[in-house]
Amino acid sequence: MKELSMHILDIAMNSVKANASLIEIEIMDSIKDDVLKIIINDNGNGMSKEILNQVTNPFYTTRKTRKVGLGLPMLKEACERCNGNLTIDSTIGKGTKVECCFERSNIDRAPLGNIGDTIMTIINSLVDCELIYKHKVDMLTFSVSTTEIKEILENVDINESSVLLWIKEYINENIKNLYNY
Ligand SMILES: Nc1ncnc2c1ncn2[C@@H]1O[C@H](COP(=O)(O)OP(=O)(O)OP(=O)(O)O)[C@@H](O)[C@H]1O
Ligand SMILES: [Mg+2]
Repeated sequence: MKELSMHILDIAMNSVKANASLIEIEIMDSIKDDVLKIIINDNGNGMSKEILNQVTNPFYTTRKTRKVGLGLPMLKEACERCNGNLTIDSTIGKGTKVECCFERSNIDRAPLGNIGDTIMTIINSLVDCELIYKHKVDMLTFSVSTTEIKEILENVDINESSVLLWIKEYINENIKNLYNY
């Protein structure tokens, strides 16, 4: 069972490969409604109807001839195993939105995993691209963006290892607080 943070890393890397200059990752966790939703939105190249069909149609994913990888089909499978679903909205030249949800309490629902680590890894791979991360747990929200971090850092590089480690700890600490409230 793959942790959800690993799926988020996969999907965000697609946005990086699509030359996005803005990536938004949002986690909406509702204990009350028993739904965990993940949205990854980018303003990158987008994908054609043909590719879209290949990554969402299970008929294609089982074929050895498929030209594309397994990131999206695997996430789709993980969602559907938990009474959830995955939808992709993509426009060539505009961007892509991947939205997926899980039944939160489902026995097959993977844990979130180390989100701080994942966001740190994503930030480290960005070139001329900003990232916004939002995490909602019922009524509480935590959000952070590379733009605001860069403002605070002034002349220090966001990709310096001490800064990246700080970001990781900062995110994990804030997520922990969302759940301990
Ligand atoms: N955010 C995105 N923007 C543009 N195209 C995308 C995006 N996400 C996915 N795609 C397209 O869909 C294809 C399938 O993505 P998927 O993550 O399933 O596999 P992959 O990235 O090709 O390989 P893998 O993730 O296994 O290394 C990609 O090759 C790309 O063409
Ligand atoms: Mg991929």
